[in-house]
Amino acid sequence: MSLIAAARAVRENAHAPYSKFKVGAALTAASGTVYTGCNVENVAYPEGTCAEAGAIAAMVAGGDTTISEIAVIADSPKPVSPCGGCRQKIAEFATGDVKVTLATTDGIVHETTVAALLPGSFDADYMSRV
Ligand code: THU
Repeated sequence: MSLIAAARAVRENAHAPYSKFKVGAALTAASGTVYTGCNVENVAYPEGTCAEAGAIAAMVAGGDTTISEIAVIADSPKPVSPCGGCRQKIAEFATGDVKVTLATTDGIVHETTVAALLPGSFDADYMSRV
C-alpha cells in the first residue's frame, strides 16, 4: 500500500465531529515500518490533536524515531497544508530533505520537503551553549 493510500485509509477513522474536517497521515520510519494517524478532536477544542501528531506518536510508541517520508490527505480544494505546530513536530524527527506528500481525496498531489515547509526552523543547534 502506498503512503497516500495508508493515509487515506486511516482518515476514515478521524474523530472530527466539530470541524467535520477529516485528516489522515502516514509516515514511513527508518525501520521501514509505516505508522498512521488521524485527527482526534475534543469538545474542549484545544485538546484536539492533528493527524500528523497521531502518526508521530504511534511512531515513537513503536520504537522508531526517524521519519523517512510522510504523507497527509484531506478533502480540501488544494493539498492540505500541515499547521505550524505539526511542521515543528515533523522536523523533530526528519531531516530537511525528507519528502512530504500533501494530497486531496480527489487526487491532487503536491510534493514538498520538510525544509520547504519550515524554513529557518528552531533546532537543537541553537541550544549548543547550554
Ligand atoms: N488538521 C490536521 O489534522 N492536520 C492538518 O494538517 C491540518 C488540520 C485537523 C485539526 C482539526 O481537527 C481539523 O483538521 C480542522 O483544523
